Amino acid sequence: MSVTVRVPAKVNVQLAVGAARPDGFHDLANVFLAVGLYDEVTVTPSDELRVTCEGPDAAQVPLDRTNLAARAAIALAGRRGLDAAVHIHIAKDIPVAGGMAGGSADGAGALLACDTLWGTGASREELLEICAELGSDVPFSLVGGAALGVGRGERLTALEVGGTFHWVFAMAARGLSTPAVFREFDRLAEGRDIPEPVASADLLAVLAKGDPEALAAAVTNDLQPAALSLFPELADTLAAGRGAGALAALVSGSGPTTAFLTRDAESAEKVAQALGASGTCRTVRTAAGPVAGATVV
Ligand code: C5P
Repeated sequence: MSVTVRVPAKVNVQLAVGAARPDGFHDLANVFLAVGLYDEVTVTPSDELRVTCEGPDAAQVPLDRTNLAARAAIALAGRRGLDAAVHIHIAKDIPVAGGMAGGSADGAGALLACDTLWGTGASREELLEICAELGSDVPFSLVGGAALGVGRGERLTALEVGGTFHWVFAMAARGLSTPAVFREFDRLAEGRDIPEPVASADLLAVLAKGDPEALAAAVTNDLQPAALSLFPELADTLAAGRGAGALAALVSGSGPTTAFLTRDAESAEKVAQALGASGTCRTVRTAAGPVAGATVV
């Protein structure tokens, strides 16, 4: 018997970053939107814990116990005194090291899949607690939809969204490490007063309304200057998307994937074509959101 879970990618429509905390993390006000680009995680009983991966970026995915999917299985098994003897197979469509929570998606997916396979019957709260131990973005991968994340980004409140937003995502030629982008944020912030991160009331109102033009005027990402500083060519991708008619162009999370909000599905196709032809990125995808979080299929 196998269990397969489908888990979406995310884009941040607001990412407000505070000063570095004593533990090295940053307090965030992080508005997540789950979008329809998915990884599928399948778990099957096996002699021992094993991870395999297929998909365009599969070669960059670690198959050892640093993989968040393996860590999720070990964490749940540890809590139940079980042996994490499963084969975890990841069908990967979310870009690796792209700022779209691909690794987090695999962690949330493996956790839900193992819970189902082993009949551990973990409550939603326990699953969310394990997710938060695995990484700051993992709880959101489990719940999906739209949510405000505070603390490290792991303490979630679900948000109302009044419609579907159409996006184009441009994948870059190489990845960016999230810790490196946060370090660059700290370096650029040196000597400046960093305000407490707070969710923008305007942005939350606009999300609830579902109006893409108003959302485009409200999106922000405090990590964008740091991502651009480490990866200056991303400015060309952002300019190409804007030139093609995107309502907003921003770095997704810590990057280097760039995200383009468009008026509707048709406009998304046009922007995607133009970005594809621009020579400023590796691949281009369209996806709409919000969509549901990790789901057994
Ligand atoms: O929580 P996660 O393992 O996904 O975080 C990866 C890295 O991103 C952390 O080690 C830290 O460098 C940085 N980070 C941060 N503040 C957050 C979330 C992540 O500095 N709120």
